[in-house]
Amino acid sequence: MKTISVPLGDRSYSIHVGSGILQKLGGLVGEIVPASKYFFVLDENIESSHGQIAMHSFSEDTDACSLRAVESNKTMDSIQDIWSAMLSYGCDRTVPLVAVGGGLVGDVGGFAAATFMRGVSVIQVPTTLLAMVDASIGGKTGINLPIEHSGGQVVLGKNLAGSFWQPALVVADVDTLNTLDDRQLRCGLAECVKHAMLGHEKLLTWIEQHLVEIFARDTSTLVELVSECASIKAEVVAQDERESGCRALLNLGHTFAHAIEPIRELSLCHGEAVSIGLCASVFCAEATGLVDADYVDRIRGILTNIGLPIRLPASVNIEELVSIMQRDKKTVDALIRLILPTEEGATIVDEIDDGAIGLAWASVGASA
Ligand SMILES: NC(=O)c1ccc[n+]([C@@H]2O[C@H](COP(=O)([O-])OP(=O)(O)OC[C@H]3O[C@@H](n4cnc5c(N)ncnc54)[C@H](O)[C@@H]3O)[C@@H](O)[C@H]2O)c1
Repeated sequence: MKTISVPLGDRSYSIHVGSGILQKLGGLVGEIVPASKYFFVLDENIESSHGQIAMHSFSEDTDACSLRAVESNKTMDSIQDIWSAMLSYGCDRTVPLVAVGGGLVGDVGGFAAATFMRGVSVIQVPTTLLAMVDASIGGKTGINLPIEHSGGQVVLGKNLAGSFWQPALVVADVDTLNTLDDRQLRCGLAECVKHAMLGHEKLLTWIEQHLVEIFARDTSTLVELVSECASIKAEVVAQDERESGCRALLNLGHTFAHAIEPIRELSLCHGEAVSIGLCASVFCAEATGLVDADYVDRIRGILTNIGLPIRLPASVNIEELVSIMQRDKKTVDALIRLILPTEEGATIVDEIDDGAIGLAWASVGASA
């Protein structure tokens, strides 16, 4: 088992990455947050498999509720359901919440824990690659909010309500990835590529060279991949917990991604939207002179080799996309803030020409 520290003073915690550690979850959690009982929020798809292994590893009393991991469930109704289940189980402030599942369950479970009785401990047990390398680390929790657009169309604005609530512990057992389908594994790789683009050229090359082992679910390769990527995220979070500076760089590609992910007709998973968002951001960076054409080709080539989309699956109007981007959390006074790649990493660009954004969207298949 590898252990990565997230040093945040009295909110510091460890990320354990390994194989066969779900069976030991109860002991690992008991060392950090001893309690007489624990409440679980389980991803419905893995409730009877990894969820049961996790719960049975505890000798204390446990209870659980489950959540179907779809973005339309990332709502206040789900939070209310979790709070109600916690109350029925007799939870008080001493009962920790253990979230077992992908990033969606981690975000919703984390927000329920952050707000129940003004906050109870949360343990993140990610079961997707994306959640292991990104969502479970750093304490961002939250839900989507409906936004009405011109013409009365309602889309879910991504993560528009939430809180920073650091977990007490993160336990990532790569064995859980054996049941994850290739599409979701690719989605996780989109976030790994994004982490690598933040100045970790060696990791980018390593990912390219280890795709066969990754898709074969080779245990030691997955432990290395998850611990490398988790270390990158942990380091950034430790420097800037509340995203007042460098943590914003982790949003590379995400302002674009968050505009397309909620469009139901596109049927994009988060990681697929991130992949297209990364492509839009490299084109935008090329248009503003931050990277050259070779860099654009390299990133598009890696994403293609992974099997991720690099263009929109159907055309979407550029104006509509820009209007959704203007509602992004990072937007101030309707000015879109972008994180764009550079040859060495990424940079925050506050004043971006609408033309460059339009060109970037056009380059991934959006229409005027
Ligand atoms: N908090 C953060 O910092 C942060 C960062 C990145 C993404 N996110 C959020 O994370 C969410 C995406 O997370 P995700 O990609 O993990 O998707 P997800 O949680 O929606 O899970 C994807 C699918 O995989 C299934 N699944 C989960 N584990 C499985 C397993 N081991 N075997 C088989 N199936 C399994 C789920 O039931 C679901 O159908 C988005 O809502 C995104 O906004 C949050």
